[in-house]
Amino acid sequence: MSAALRITGLSAGYSGFRILDGLDLDLAAGRITAIVGSNGAGKSTLLRSLAGLLPRGGQAMVDGRVLPPGSATAAVRAGLILVAEGRHLFPRMTVLENLQLGGWLLARPERAARLERALALFPRLGERRNQLAGSMSGGEQQMVALARALVGRPRLLMLDEPSLGLAPRLVDEVMTLVRRIRDEDVTVLLVEQNVAKALAIADDALVLERGRLVASGPAAELLRSSLVRAAYLGGRR
Ligand SMILES: Nc1ncnc2c1ncn2[C@@H]1O[C@H](COP(=O)(O)OP(=O)(O)OP(=O)(O)O)[C@@H](O)[C@H]1O
Ligand SMILES: [Mg+2]
Repeated sequence: MSAALRITGLSAGYSGFRILDGLDLDLAAGRITAIVGSNGAGKSTLLRSLAGLLPRGGQAMVDGRVLPPGSATAAVRAGLILVAEGRHLFPRMTVLENLQLGGWLLARPERAARLERALALFPRLGERRNQLAGSMSGGEQQMVALARALVGRPRLLMLDEPSLGLAPRLVDEVMTLVRRIRDEDVTVLLVEQNVAKALAIADDALVLERGRLVASGPAAELLRSSLVRAAYLGGRR
């Protein structure tokens, strides 16, 4: 099993306050790995530091190549693409324009090809391509954010709470899309508050508590574990 991402001794935090300290982690290629953990555990900090949006220490290797820290451009070039919490679309631009921006680092023909593929995966966005992104519903905006990330040719797609604020039916739709993205040969790192749904679609899972990995393994196993059931699924330990 090849590691799409190998992290050794990763540390990150905010103005001298260390949230992650010496984190080691291997992500298997072509799989969905879910990260669960309480509020403030450091999940977003991990994703943001990998995306080059926060300074970090330690080493991260993507497909065997060292990723320089602190550079969002280097991260995108290496295929690490983050869909941050809150979607961050350009509301006054159309759906199509938002999607095109996802391919900012690609040559024009490739960008066009990626755009076609993303629209094939999200047919509803094709119908709405000329609508302003800001006038789409919350669920539709989440679809635009996912599709935009796909246009950027991710090798590792990092999703920070893609189901936040969505109705249950739409949560299921997003989860189905995440699986379909994985089936396009993209490795997925999925941070979710919706633990039951995330673990139901993930292949592997990690539990992060106060900056430390306290459990990891096949998602189906963690879903049954007393630690996860007690802490995240309202069950008894
Ligand atoms: N910009 C910031 N400046 C200072 N501290 C921050 C900043 N962002 C996050 N933190 C702190 O870092 C810790 C980890 O935050 P992080 O956002 O990574 O948690 P999280 O696991 O994503 O939580 P949630 O589930 O609530 O999204 C928290 O204690 C938080 O208060
Ligand atoms: Mg977070």
